[in-house]
Amino acid sequence: MCGIIGIVGDYNNTNDIINGLKSLEYRGYDSCGIVGLVQNKFIEAKSISKINNLEKIIKKNKINTKISIAHTRWATHGKPSLVNTHPFIKNNCAVVHNGIIENFEYLTKKFNIRKNLIKSDTDSEIIALIFDKLLKQNIDPIKIIKQIVKLIKGTYAFAFLVKETKKIYAVKKGSPLVLGISDNFKAISSDILGLPDTTNEVIFLEDEDIVEINHTNFKIINFKNNTSKRNKHIFTPKKNFLIKGKFKHFMQKEIFYQPTSIKDTFFNYLEKKTKKIFLPKSDINFTQIKNIDFIACGTAFHACMIAKYWFEMFSNVNVNVHIASEFRHKKNINKSETIGIFVSQSGETMDTLQCLKFLKKNNIKTISVVNVFNSSIARLSDLIIPTLAGPEIGVASTKAFTSQLMALCMLLLNFQKLDNSINSKNYSDLLNTGNSIKKILHKDSEIKNIAKHLVNKKSIFYIGRGLMYPIALEGALKLKEITYKHCEGYAAGELKHGPLALIEDNIPVIALAPYDNNFLKILSNIQEIKARGGEIITLTDKLGYKKIKKFSHSTLILPDTKSYSAPIIYSIPVQLIAYHLAVFLGTDVDQPRNLAKAVTVE
Ligand code: AGP
Repeated sequence: MCGIIGIVGDYNNTNDIINGLKSLEYRGYDSCGIVGLVQNKFIEAKSISKINNLEKIIKKNKINTKISIAHTRWATHGKPSLVNTHPFIKNNCAVVHNGIIENFEYLTKKFNIRKNLIKSDTDSEIIALIFDKLLKQNIDPIKIIKQIVKLIKGTYAFAFLVKETKKIYAVKKGSPLVLGISDNFKAISSDILGLPDTTNEVIFLEDEDIVEINHTNFKIINFKNNTSKRNKHIFTPKKNFLIKGKFKHFMQKEIFYQPTSIKDTFFNYLEKKTKKIFLPKSDINFTQIKNIDFIACGTAFHACMIAKYWFEMFSNVNVNVHIASEFRHKKNINKSETIGIFVSQSGETMDTLQCLKFLKKNNIKTISVVNVFNSSIARLSDLIIPTLAGPEIGVASTKAFTSQLMALCMLLLNFQKLDNSINSKNYSDLLNTGNSIKKILHKDSEIKNIAKHLVNKKSIFYIGRGLMYPIALEGALKLKEITYKHCEGYAAGELKHGPLALIEDNIPVIALAPYDNNFLKILSNIQEIKARGGEIITLTDKLGYKKIKKFSHSTLILPDTKSYSAPIIYSIPVQLIAYHLAVFLGTDVDQPRNLAKAVTVE
């Protein structure tokens, strides 16, 4: 896959373009280039290496422009070379493209593009030549776009810079594209990471949207010439993540940011109109994958456990999850039809990184689900799936975890349906997850009371079944790492095989009990605990509440959930219980003792 970006503003925005390209580098970095318009002339810079090298060329050539488009390439047609590097610059226009034009030879003939004009081996240049030819016939750029795209077979996100109108035009189908809006500029980018930090609002464009931008206005129409109304979302600049604002701790801020981070991750991969999922492109053939090895540490490992349940519930792929530090000792691995999926917030965890290198040495394709997309783990992976949670400062991972779950859900749905569509039940379940999280955040004071009750407890248990078992482990980890209290997470059915001996009067057991197909079983586990003096705190939903209330010291009623949303929703109260308990105990919430945000030692 490639990354495209375009900005038109009332200021020199070349630096924003460079920073945007760096943020899109995870999409491919075989080559990169920029073209700007200065006094009605195209000025360009290209490089067949990383963005940093392009940056040097831009500075050396003193390229400073208010309107430009740029591209970072993952080569599909034509090897990484300068001549194949986007943008493709012709007399009246310049073009960048992300996607694959399957019928570019047909289009070459259809529009009588002379062979001697074709300089590259790419499909994208043909579009540049056609666009330029039609501009010479004084056809309106939007009309040209409509004329071309209705003949294209394939996927595309194009950005066109037109000399005469001094505007940028963009169109997408099957490749992601977002529109960034600010008072003094408009920008388009393959994803929100590429937008300038000073963006105010973002629109997730949909298939067949055609966008026209200059620095004061933007217009979105569709192929039928109707104006397309698109929702605007508030854009959170990266620098905002580095301040606590109204919150006492970064962890608290990051917990409360989850309605946004979940939505940003969801919409980054899911096309609203078609309900299709678009993962970054790679040469991994998902239809041939029979085995998946998920590998991670800590909270990220819990995300992998959830993914295993999901993959086994909804696909016939054989899934194993491994703690990275243990996987390192494996001698024989199943290599055929296998991929390794590495989940890591920091993308720098040494245990995880070493496993990635081990699989690569065995020629196994790798996917990384990371929150830092230019991290070591990301750079070594064959496919990067960013979690779009924004920088996470608190050592205890919260928003990155729930975004990992959303990203893994998108990955599964992409595996599950070869036409990468998502059925409307799952779509609305995931779409409403952000709102459900908001409802839980409104219960913050109720959750704080639960935490207050735990202040003097010497030991605390979490229990869950099925999808709730990894959340029980995650809740216990959150509580341990920031309150320093002993806390264990268990599969609810496992308690009677030993740990029940620890239960005595007033030992609190927090039961994760949505009214699902495990409910009746966890209800009997709760009664086993109750019978031994244990104190039950239940996180459940309306239906579960009616049946579980009489056994509970306290109960938190959560929104109804389905398989995909349940782990994400039940993560929120366990995060808040740990957070408030830590505040009551006066520990260092954001930088707890003995820990680090990225464990870069083995
Ligand atoms: C999570 O709250 C912990 N800080 C820790 O378990 C963390 O998840 C683990 O070290 C893995 O980190 P990573 O996601 O950056 O790879």
